[in-house]
Formats: sequence, C-alpha cells, structure tokens
Amino acid sequence: MPRPSKSVLITGASGGIGRETVQRLSGLGWQVFAGMRFPQAGRTLFHGLDGVVPVELDVSREASLHQAHEQVAHHLAEHGLDGLINNAGLGVDGPVELVPTAASRRQFKVNVIGKIAITQVFLPLIRAAQGCVINIGGAAVRYGVGLETRYGLPILLRLPERLRDRS
Ligand SMILES: NC(=O)c1ccc[n+]([C@@H]2O[C@H](COP(=O)([O-])OP(=O)(O)OC[C@H]3O[C@@H](n4cnc5c(N)ncnc54)[C@H](OP(=O)(O)O)[C@@H]3O)[C@@H](O)[C@H]2O)c1
Repeated sequence: MPRPSKSVLITGASGGIGRETVQRLSGLGWQVFAGMRFPQAGRTLFHGLDGVVPVELDVSREASLHQAHEQVAHHLAEHGLDGLINNAGLGVDGPVELVPTAASRRQFKVNVIGKIAITQVFLPLIRAAQGCVINIGGAAVRYGVGLETRYGLPILLRLPERLRDRS
C-alpha cells in the first residue's frame, strides 16, 4: 500500500514561526500535527488548511506530552512520524540582576527541558519512520547580548566571561 503524505509535529504552532511552518508544510501536502496549548484556537487558525490536526500540547507538562503522543500515534496508525519540529519557546528578557528566577526557571522548563522531554516521548515514532528532529533556537544562544539571561543555559555558561568584561 503506498504511504500517505509525510507527517510532522510542530510545537508552539499558535503563532510566529510555528504557525508559518504549519501553513507552509500543509501547502506542500504534509500531514501536520499543530501542537498548541489551546488547540481550540487552532481550529479557527488553520481552518481550510488540508491535513492539519491541532493537538493539545504543553511541552512543560509531562502528562500533556503523553496525551499528545497518544493522539498523534492514533492518527498515524502503523506509520511513524517523519519529523518533530521543536519550536515552542519563551523569550525572557532582561539583565541577570533583574530577571526573577521564577521566570528563568519557567523559560528553562520550556526551552530546554521541554525539547528534551518531547523528543524522548516521540523518538520511537520518529525512529519508525527514520524521521528527524529539528530544534529551533536563536543566534543569541551562540553570541549572547550583554548580561541578558535570554535562552538560559548557553548564556549562563558564558556569564562569568561577560561579567569579567564588564568589571
Ligand atoms: N522570532 C525570532 O526572532 C527568534 C529569535 C530567536 C529564537 N527564536 C525561537 O524560535 C521559536 C519560535 O519563535 P517565535 O518568534 O515564533 O515565538 P512566538 O511567536 O512567541 O511563538 C512561541 C510559541 O511557543 C509556544 N509556547 C510557549 N510556551 C509553550 C509551552 N509550554 N508549550 C507549548 N508551546 C509553548 C507559544 O504558545 P502560546 O501562544 O500558547 O503562548 C507560541 O506558539 C522559539 O523557540 C524562539 O525562542 C525566535
């Protein structure tokens, strides 16, 4: 039996890069699982787009990851998942002296642990299709901006050097 169209799960599909990617891949004939914290919005957002299935998904909640996996696996039947695009992310801006640690914790939970956790949960489906995982990040991870906390760990690793440069 011929395989249906390629399939992909995109996290953070409610806006920005995620939403654009859903539209683009749907236009190319992919089956797109649009991971969103509030999927009812997706029904309006992606109305009229072929092959788009809004999936409730909060990458910071373990139970949500497993529920989303169940829903995606059900749609795919025996086929695996060709792609996972880890796009969901939070920008927490501000100098390290001022950003509340609770905000940094939340950011780390979504931007770092969230990507690891969802990859773990979906890896068997991705392996079944010999698919791939794409992580969306930003140039600030590599280069950093002053004493900004943005993007968490990579910046933290460079913080001593940045503090030294400012002293
Ligand atoms: N745009 C840029 O210039 C830029 C630069 C560097 C890096 N990036 C990275 O690229 C990615 C997309 O950026 P963007 O500009 O398109 O951002 P955006 O418009 O703010 O979209 C972020 C998406 O992530 C979702 N999200 C947040 N927390 C989530 C959670 N716990 N579980 C699931 N989804 C969650 C948001 O959903 P809600 O609507 O429910 O909040 C939203 O759909 C992010 O990872 C960002 O860090 C973007």
